[in-house]
Amino acid sequence: MNTRDIISLDKKYYMNTFGNRIPVVFEYGHRSTLYDKEGNSYTDFLAGIAVNILGYGHPALVEAVTAQAKKLMHCSNLFYIESQAQLAQLLVRNSCGDKVFFANSGAEANEAAIKLARKYFWDMGMNKYEIITAENSFHGRTLAALAATGQEKYQKPFIPMPEGFRSVPFNDLEAINKAIGYTTCAVMIELIQGEGGIIEADYQYIKGLEQLCKEKGILLIIDEVQTGMGRTGKLFAYQHFDIQPDIITLAKGLGGGVPIGAVIARDEVASAFDPGSHGSTFGGNPLACSAGIAVLNTILEDGLTDKCAELGNYFKGRLVALKEKYGFIKDVRGKGLMLGMELDESVSGKDIVNQAFKKGFIINCTGCNTLRFVPPLIISQDEIDNLVSQLDSIFSNISED
Ligand SMILES: Cc1ncc(COP(=O)(O)O)c(C=O)c1O
Repeated sequence: MNTRDIISLDKKYYMNTFGNRIPVVFEYGHRSTLYDKEGNSYTDFLAGIAVNILGYGHPALVEAVTAQAKKLMHCSNLFYIESQAQLAQLLVRNSCGDKVFFANSGAEANEAAIKLARKYFWDMGMNKYEIITAENSFHGRTLAALAATGQEKYQKPFIPMPEGFRSVPFNDLEAINKAIGYTTCAVMIELIQGEGGIIEADYQYIKGLEQLCKEKGILLIIDEVQTGMGRTGKLFAYQHFDIQPDIITLAKGLGGGVPIGAVIARDEVASAFDPGSHGSTFGGNPLACSAGIAVLNTILEDGLTDKCAELGNYFKGRLVALKEKYGFIKDVRGKGLMLGMELDESVSGKDIVNQAFKKGFIINCTGCNTLRFVPPLIISQDEIDNLVSQLDSIFSNISED
């Protein structure tokens, strides 16, 4: 099928949740490059929105998934699963948690975290169920994850939202302090708001939050769905803040393109999930967990977090240099290879995304007119240089208009 036929098939048969997509169909990828049906190539600075952490066709991931597919793709959680146990061990050894539960997506991982936090207090006979989240956050599209998401625009058409969620301004410890009440069981927060426009949490805010949660006897849930798996230059973003969350949620990069989500919790909290409390048909199946093992081992063995930190600094420096040159760039933010460039209202971020696409680069625009860069962690300095020089040329044309 050609691209036009695929687009008309989509328009006829697929629900229109994504609106007018960029009119391209990718056929295959190699390293950080995607190739479309017509053979055009694109350097990918989006990576399936922070998913394809090892790029495309990474031999370790392809071999692991192929070998597992040949043996056993799915097996019920009524039975023990080797790769599930091994991936759980690997995650625990490399985080501050003790036990893991696997889901299939970020929203599902957050749903599980919400249930776990409520069940933890239920078991103690305490009427604590409310979760405080941040305004401008994003925790997923299922109903409870949506209720946790502090952006009314996503919630409005689906009211009533499940009860027990309250969002307060981000980076404002006093706002959380004031919001904590008798029924509060947890605070759930992103350390860099991704969909919200690459907004970083302050170090002191997060240190203070950890302390506050301890003092109030409530749980700290860190949503690492987008920031996890080396994306910010450390394996998990919480490691930048010298904190020990009670619960961490993961998805996106964990399977390197194979759907998987995870909840990691410290022992005492994890034990609230007992037989029958939670479950999933697909969660933690052999295929997804084999992918997760290959991704995590590759990140660790190839030192990808350090490389990400180094390249991220370089990339950020080049973006900051563009900011110094063009007055319409309001801000450059982020850590590692999770970077954002906020533009003022005189420039349309969407337009820049389309122009970059025409030049063979994939980026996107999120939050308040913020260009987002979340490439595979194997992106090269040359590829970064090429993108920056193309952005420079796009921006210089705008300046002349
Ligand atoms: C921080 C965060 N949490 C949760 C989600 C939801 O993940 P999923 O789309 O896999 O359900 C996202 C997705 O963008 C996210 O960025």
